[in-house]
Amino acid sequence: MPRYLVTGCAGFIGSTLTDTLLAEGSEVRGIDSFTDYYPREVKEAALNGARANPSFTLLEHDLATGAVPESSLEGIDGIFHLAARPGVRASWGTGFDAYVSDNVLATHAVADAAGERGIRVVFASSSSIYGDALAYPTPEDTTPSPISPYGVTKLACEHLVAAHGRFSGLEHVALRYFTVYGPRQRPDMAFSRVIAALAAGREFEVYGDGSQSRDFTFVGDAVAATIAAMRDAPAGATYNVGGGSEAALRDVVALAGELAGRPLNVRYGEPAPGDVKRTLADTTRIRSELGWHPRTDLRSGLAAQLEAAGALAGSAG
Ligand code: NAD
Ligand code: UGA
Repeated sequence: MPRYLVTGCAGFIGSTLTDTLLAEGSEVRGIDSFTDYYPREVKEAALNGARANPSFTLLEHDLATGAVPESSLEGIDGIFHLAARPGVRASWGTGFDAYVSDNVLATHAVADAAGERGIRVVFASSSSIYGDALAYPTPEDTTPSPISPYGVTKLACEHLVAAHGRFSGLEHVALRYFTVYGPRQRPDMAFSRVIAALAAGREFEVYGDGSQSRDFTFVGDAVAATIAAMRDAPAGATYNVGGGSEAALRDVVALAGELAGRPLNVRYGEPAPGDVKRTLADTTRIRSELGWHPRTDLRSGLAAQLEAAGALAGSAG
């Protein structure tokens, strides 16, 4: 039975990855510090399934302290490093300290511990490292130019794991996820807020005119790419993980209203600082090297997220 460490196991993508690994018969050790970025109850709920599985062990621990507990490392076959402070817009101003701790310091600790013990690390990076990208679709060798402090920390983390690779021989793979959505999506992200607004009959505030577009990626597809990277990626590889569903935010808002069976009231506000205008992944590399491709289109994935929140028209919810 393979045995993995998942950092950030109580988060949106980390909990979904944990459940998938457990369902495949792996043993999972999870580390999470339950940061205050969003409420602990949401993270606890995401762990309900895993906690009921005897192959899962949770360790509440802050990786930014610089240490990775020995008990979480013994006998493991790989580390999925997803723990981080996510979110582009909150990374300006005094909030930045936490980004440095939870992203840069925590990643240094994981890379240090893994390099010393010869454990492979798959690291969750981000499309935000490209900023307003120099090419669309964006291939991995595009020069990174992040335009948010968050993006800068994720790029720093990529360089950190690569430096550890040269220093200690750390085997590392970086995955650049493109705006992930689906059940358990973080409450600060657009689709979750759209669904919350629909449920409460409130307005949803669009930052800007809604013409910004994203290569939205369904969480099940992101998780499949992550597991494939652990098993099959050559050491040192970097892959874009994009869902192939580029859509403008205003079109997604309309689609959500259609799927929910009621229109959403929208208010247009100021564009958010650090927000890129467009993302679109070139996924040629991951398709050819790992045989991965996205399987869930935006309509089905958004319907799944609405259904999980009890907001899909005609669903029991
Ligand atoms: P999330 O906030 O739901 O999950 C991250 C988890 O890490 C949280 O449960 C948090 O408590 C934990 N954590 C944070 N700092 C920690 C620390 N110092 N020690 C231990 N645990 C800590 O975020 P998510 O959306 O699931 O993102 C997962 C990863 O994927 C992150 O690395 C994020 O940067 C990256 N990513 C996410 C997206 C997306 O669209 N969601 C896109 C690109 C990259
Ligand atoms: C997402 C994640 O939040 C980041 O952690 C991640 O690194 C990034 O994807 C990535 O792909 O690298 P983002 O694209 O901003 O970032 O995702 P959402 O929060 O879902 O926002 C999508 C769009 O909706 C953005 O243009 C945002 O400004 C807009 N939005 C969001 C609103 O207009 N209103 C809101 O209330 C929330």
